[in-house]
Amino acid sequence: MDNKKMRFAIIGCGRIAPKHAESIVALEEAELVAVCDIVPEKAQSFADKYGAVPYTDYLEVLKRDDIDIVTIATPSDLHAPIGIDAAKAGKHVMVEKPMAMTLKSADELIQACRDAGVKLSVIHQNRFNKSIKLVRQALEEGRFGKLTHGQATVRWNRDENYYAQAPWRGTKLQDGGVLMNQSIHNIDLLQWMFGPVESVYGYTRTALRKIEMEDVGVAVIKFKSGALGIIEAASTIYPKNIEETLNVFGETGSVIVGGIAVNRIETWEFPASDEEKKQIFASQESDPPTVYGFGHREIIVDMIEAVKNNRNPAIPGEEGRKALEIILAIYKCQETKEPVVFPLEAE
Ligand SMILES: NC(=O)c1ccc[n+]([C@@H]2O[C@H](COP(=O)([O-])OP(=O)(O)OC[C@H]3O[C@@H](n4cnc5c(N)ncnc54)[C@H](O)[C@@H]3O)[C@@H](O)[C@H]2O)c1
Repeated sequence: MDNKKMRFAIIGCGRIAPKHAESIVALEEAELVAVCDIVPEKAQSFADKYGAVPYTDYLEVLKRDDIDIVTIATPSDLHAPIGIDAAKAGKHVMVEKPMAMTLKSADELIQACRDAGVKLSVIHQNRFNKSIKLVRQALEEGRFGKLTHGQATVRWNRDENYYAQAPWRGTKLQDGGVLMNQSIHNIDLLQWMFGPVESVYGYTRTALRKIEMEDVGVAVIKFKSGALGIIEAASTIYPKNIEETLNVFGETGSVIVGGIAVNRIETWEFPASDEEKKQIFASQESDPPTVYGFGHREIIVDMIEAVKNNRNPAIPGEEGRKALEIILAIYKCQETKEPVVFPLEAE
């Protein structure tokens, strides 16, 4: 592994971009060289803050041959097209969630990265939470026994002001609703724990916010293993974010991870686990300052190592696609009123 710094560009300098920029500039092995936003003032102030060169046209960024990794943090419908252009320009791609708005465009992005021989990493930073790593480890060690059921719950508040901040928010073509935007991380975790999906049924509604897509969604999943899953997602919770919670229940294990962003273990029950339980509860992290958590740094480090060691990133395109498929299946149920048996056709 050589010691060359990985050179990053960030495309889209909005709300989530500082999480990327702060992580990149703090890492010894990384450097932020270019940032891009179609709004010149945003590109300029972001560039000034993090010591990079500003651009307003991402194609100009892609022409630079000194950039290794491009991070895409634009409105969601632009992830796939910009990612495809970046791959064609030979750049490794980190893409914010959801990786695309349709399975067809997700597949095109995956294929473009494969064809170009570049890495594709989808940002599901909660997989790197200390709490979630413990659950996944317990699962890999078979400590739950036969999995029975689980639940992904997101009870957050996004008010009218949040949706009014950017015209793409809450729209069908560019964002989706609370399932696609806020809950996709937790849905990703649920499917990561419980494995391939057999079928999905769900309902969505736009209960309170003036948006095109849902502010409340509920769904049930039957996994191929026979285990069942429940999804509850709401951006309408009064008066503020309450919880993002993942429950995993099995024959010999019960775990509930809560906090505002699946950061705190609330229940940890396995046979003879008293000492371990004490240690886990004693070393808990407090709630992060925002629901974005602390995982961006680790997922960026993972990508740098994936590039340097020519291995897959922890969450490659094929992994990021799985939560997208579940959410699009719920949207399909809302239209057809029929359960969706997997795989969902890529339209
Ligand atoms: N991982 C997470 O926890 C997390 C959290 C929030 C948002 N996100 C995702 O990040 C993405 C951005 O969300 P946000 O809340 O930061 O949005 P935002 O609207 O605050 O920022 C998006 C920025 O992209 C810019 N932009 C639009 N088109 C562009 C183009 N063609 N080239 C360059 N810049 C362009 C906009 O001007 C804007 O500044 C979304 O896909 C969202 O789902 C992820």
